[in-house]
Amino acid sequence: MKKLLLPLLSFALCLTVTAADPAQPTGKFSTEYEGRAYTFPDESSLAKWKADREASIYQQIGGKPAMDAAIEIFYKKVLADDRVKHFFDDVNMARQRTKQKAFLSAAFGGPIPWEGKDMRKAHAKLPGLNDSHFNAIAENLQATLTELKVKKELIDKILAIAESTRADVLNRPKDSVRTDGAAK
Ligand code: HEM
Repeated sequence: MKKLLLPLLSFALCLTVTAADPAQPTGKFSTEYEGRAYTFPDESSLAKWKADREASIYQQIGGKPAMDAAIEIFYKKVLADDRVKHFFDDVNMARQRTKQKAFLSAAFGGPIPWEGKDMRKAHAKLPGLNDSHFNAIAENLQATLTELKVKKELIDKILAIAESTRADVLNRPKDSVRTDGAAK
């Protein structure tokens, strides 16, 4: 019996050691970014992905740690701002910070696409939401980035991205907003 068990046991052990670890990059065209593995079908897709990351606002401001810091400061300012804080009275702020980090990270060219609500749906039920509220939020974002000593050139690009959400956030037709952000 012993004679039979020993070869069986070593065969089982061998299987365990050679099994693939699903957390590791699998293909030849793989890379790791902020602790996650990304795999591509060919070399040019991988090269493009890396070039997109390099060029992104997300990476230029400092990636995940910078986004985490920015959103923490941003919501401190928002919740201290009498013009807009009442909108967040019944909102789970831990969830809101997580969502906002995910949304803005994706909008700034981070590696993980936004899969949450679209901006129209997310703000559709906020009573009386108007341009003055939107401007206050944009102002808090600008003040946050200035406090974090982000370069002006990057701040301008970030504010332009925020501005591009105005029609959706305020639930207006897309063409109802002039390029300077004011309503037509
Ligand atoms: C740059 C403009 C804005 C962006 C990018 C933005 C982004 C977001 C995101 C990503 C969410 C979460 C969506 C989800 O649950 O999946 C959200 C929710 C919310 N936003 Fe905004 N937002 C903007 C402007 C505003 C403004 C102007 C206000 C009000 C002053 C506001 C108030 C809220 C509130 C209260 C929620 C939570 C709604 C709920 O949980 O029911 N947002 N926003």
